[in-house]
Amino acid sequence: AGLVVLASGTGSLLRALIEAAADDAYPARIRAVGVDRECAAAEHAAAAGIPVVRIPAGDYPDRAAWDRALADSVAGYLPDLVVCAGFMKLLGPTFLDRFGGRIINTHPALLPSFPGAHGVRDALAYGVRVTGSTVHLVDSGVDTGPILAQEAVPVHPDDDEPTLHERIKIVERRLLVDVVAAVATRGIVSDGRKAVIPDERV
Ligand code: GRF
Repeated sequence: AGLVVLASGTGSLLRALIEAAADDAYPARIRAVGVDRECAAAEHAAAAGIPVVRIPAGDYPDRAAWDRALADSVAGYLPDLVVCAGFMKLLGPTFLDRFGGRIINTHPALLPSFPGAHGVRDALAYGVRVTGSTVHLVDSGVDTGPILAQEAVPVHPDDDEPTLHERIKIVERRLLVDVVAAVATRGIVSDGRKAVIPDERV
C-alpha cells in the first residue's frame, strides 16, 4: 500500500514508519510526507529520500483554500492510506471527502478521554492512573473517528508531561506501525460507528 504521512513535529512516529518500511516484508511504502510548517519531521523525510510537500496554512487566503491545496498535493501521490503522525492541524471537508475512511491518526490518550491537542497534559491534570495510545480513523470531529487499536500506558506518580508523553510514544510508534501494516494487508470493515481490521480478508 502507498502512504502519504502528514506530520508537524519532531517526527519520531514518522521515523518509526520509515524504519518499518525499509524492510521489504513491510506491506506499505511512504510515497510522500506532507507538513504544514518547517519541522524535524520534514528533515527526516528529506534525509530518507522521501518527497516532502510543504503546505503552510499561512500561504493561503483561508482555511478552505488550504484544505484544497493539501488535498490536491496529497492526491498527486495516489495514496491508499493517509497517516497523520503528529499532524497538528484539523483536516478540512475537501480532504475528508477525498480520503475519508482511509485516514489514520494516532492520539496520545485513550479516546474518547482527552481528545484534542493536549491529550497528555489533560490526562495528567485529571489524575488518571492509566492512559495510553489510540489509533483511529479520522472523521470530521476532533479525535472522534472509529477506533482501530488502543493500548494502555501507566501514569507514574512523578510523571510530568514530557516523561509521560515519551512513555506513550514508545507504544504509539509500535501500535501505528502495526496498524498500518494490518490495514494495508487486510483493510478495514466499517460497521456503523465501529471499524474493525478483519483477521483475514474474505
Ligand atoms: C504523538 O504523541 C502524536 O500522537 C501527537 O504528537 C506526537 C507526535 O510525535 N499528536 P512525533 O513528532 O512523531 O515525535
